[in-house]
Amino acid sequence: MKRGRSILGAWFLDPSVVFLNHGSFGACPRVVLEAQSAIRERMERRPVQFLVDELPVLLGAQISRLAQLVGASSERMVFVENATQAVNAVVRSLALAPGDELLTTSHVYGAVRQTLRFVAERSGAVVVVAQVPFPATDPGAALASLAACMNERTRLVVVDHLTSPTALVLPVEQVVALCRARGVPVLVDGAHAPGHLPLALDALGADWYTGNAHKWLFAPKGCAFLYARAGAPAVHPTVISHGYGTTFQEEFHWVGTKDPSAWLALGAALDFVDAHGGAPVIAAGNHQMVREASALIEAELGLTPTAPWSMRGAMATFAHPAGGPATLARAKELHDALAAVGVEVPVFPFADRVWFRISAQLYNERADYERLVEALKRSA
Ligand SMILES: Cc1ncc(COP(=O)(O)O)c(C=O)c1O
Repeated sequence: MKRGRSILGAWFLDPSVVFLNHGSFGACPRVVLEAQSAIRERMERRPVQFLVDELPVLLGAQISRLAQLVGASSERMVFVENATQAVNAVVRSLALAPGDELLTTSHVYGAVRQTLRFVAERSGAVVVVAQVPFPATDPGAALASLAACMNERTRLVVVDHLTSPTALVLPVEQVVALCRARGVPVLVDGAHAPGHLPLALDALGADWYTGNAHKWLFAPKGCAFLYARAGAPAVHPTVISHGYGTTFQEEFHWVGTKDPSAWLALGAALDFVDAHGGAPVIAAGNHQMVREASALIEAELGLTPTAPWSMRGAMATFAHPAGGPATLARAKELHDALAAVGVEVPVFPFADRVWFRISAQLYNERADYERLVEALKRSA
């Protein structure tokens, strides 16, 4: 399978930039965006017929294909625009009372932490944060920390499948089993997981699972899903429209007039995935690339790994060699210094340090990480 610079032209990515941040927002291939444009044109030719008659059928076909990929029954799946919307739908559907507890980990995505905070402030509930050590040595640490924080007041556990700042694969199978055994509803935030990690959502048994297709499945931005297991507590979209009180899919698939082309172009994205060997092959190649890149970074910059390989996918986080205070301002300064020499990687504060995170995607090759290493040597 081809990878690297020779296929970079399949994306609109600026060839003068070394793009090592597929993780944040993905990068959508040209063919997928062309398919999205064709869908928009079809919609605008006969808007009423398209949105009223054709859309439900077209969405049904797309959701079935996605459901197959993630090991889910298609009626348990709905499209949303992004993981943030899905998390909001779940958390804001809960009936909470003062003193109830919402449990998550110290690696939770910032927007999700804010959502929990918002809901807690309005209901008198409390957000409890299970501390998970970083650098990580053992997947059991997250499980043990969550288990120690659970009690009879815990109303929801939110756990990331792949953490955003620290790029850790957490043991969601064990966390879900623990929650189900204790009767506590669990939401898995798998924003990074589709196309990146193997998924079998019916078998996993989480009450809810959200994943983005616009990151590692190459869909246009605004294509994500929410899964709810049969029997999970009822969830409604944050915007209530005609579908209220009907079916899960009708409720989520019409939240007012919107452009559904990102959802409908999912098929083109999955065709792109298949044309490049399928999701498991792409993910394995990306994992291998990040392993090589990490070895280079560790050897050239003297940095230490932040997790065992069993806890990593196609991303890896390292302490930024230039250091400095763990502030957003310092992170921005270090990010901008790399961007100024044409290297795009996220730099962020986490706990008491500033870190950078690499991603690997089909269009990356070893030379990209060599450019990063050179840039980091100059900034240290
Ligand atoms: C763990 C996690 N949750 C949620 C999100 C939010 O995704 P989106 O911006 O697509 O809603 C991200 C984005 O990177 C993430 O990493």
